[in-house]
Amino acid sequence: MTNIGVLDSGVGGLSVLWELKKALPNQNFIFFGDTKHVPYGTKTKEEIFTYTKNILEFFLEKNVRNVVFACNTTSAVAYLDLREYFLNKINIFPLIQSAAPYAVQGLKENDTIAALATRATTKSGKYEEEIRKINDKINVVSIDCTGFVEIVENRTYDDKKSIDLIKEKLQIAKDNKAKRIILGCTHYPYLAAIMKKIYNVDYFDPGYYLAKTVKNSLENKGEGKLEFFVSKNPKEFILSAKTFFDIEKAQLVNL
Ligand code: DGL
Repeated sequence: MTNIGVLDSGVGGLSVLWELKKALPNQNFIFFGDTKHVPYGTKTKEEIFTYTKNILEFFLEKNVRNVVFACNTTSAVAYLDLREYFLNKINIFPLIQSAAPYAVQGLKENDTIAALATRATTKSGKYEEEIRKINDKINVVSIDCTGFVEIVENRTYDDKKSIDLIKEKLQIAKDNKAKRIILGCTHYPYLAAIMKKIYNVDYFDPGYYLAKTVKNSLENKGEGKLEFFVSKNPKEFILSAKTFFDIEKAQLVNL
């Protein structure tokens, strides 16, 4: 039985691992958080491709054959190229492509949905593209929330600067009368409670739907093991992870 790889730039992907663990409790998961290169959202497409390729190579060495992209940014800008690059070697489960079809369920014609995401995801237009395939009568407003990832990685949830930034971004959703908010970066579920207090609408977490997709194609077999690897600051990673997991050990890998 081989393990399932799960990757992200940092602790964000743990919000997806949480859903995966609920969906497939017996599976063994190896999580990689690329804390040396976080945030991915302000990097170029080429940089994001290279960082992710290196993680996939690390997974290959560990005999991992199925990898979950617990990262919207990677799914938006590097998935197609990486699928091609690792063809017949690694089976990839991308986030946006797996979850976006569910995002418009229950919405009506001309309703607006706001996709909060990193700069790279917003620029890619991937949420708009995937939603349009399912329903082109829904308005999609993409909001670049650069800075949210740092709030989560550095745990500055209570700083006035952080709250002001969250309010400023949600105001755009309010101005557009958004009926639903997509947490279009896996770091954002850490901020969901704060966001709901500021703008109380329906929040959509793509991670839940990605986990459903994975559950439909992989078996619930294994010893239920979890292993964690990071490319920098394992202690900080463990502290920031606490919202979702109490991690005893995160191993440092030089990528
Ligand atoms: N959590 C990732 C995402 O879903 C990456 C965020 C970042 O590193 O900018 O997009």
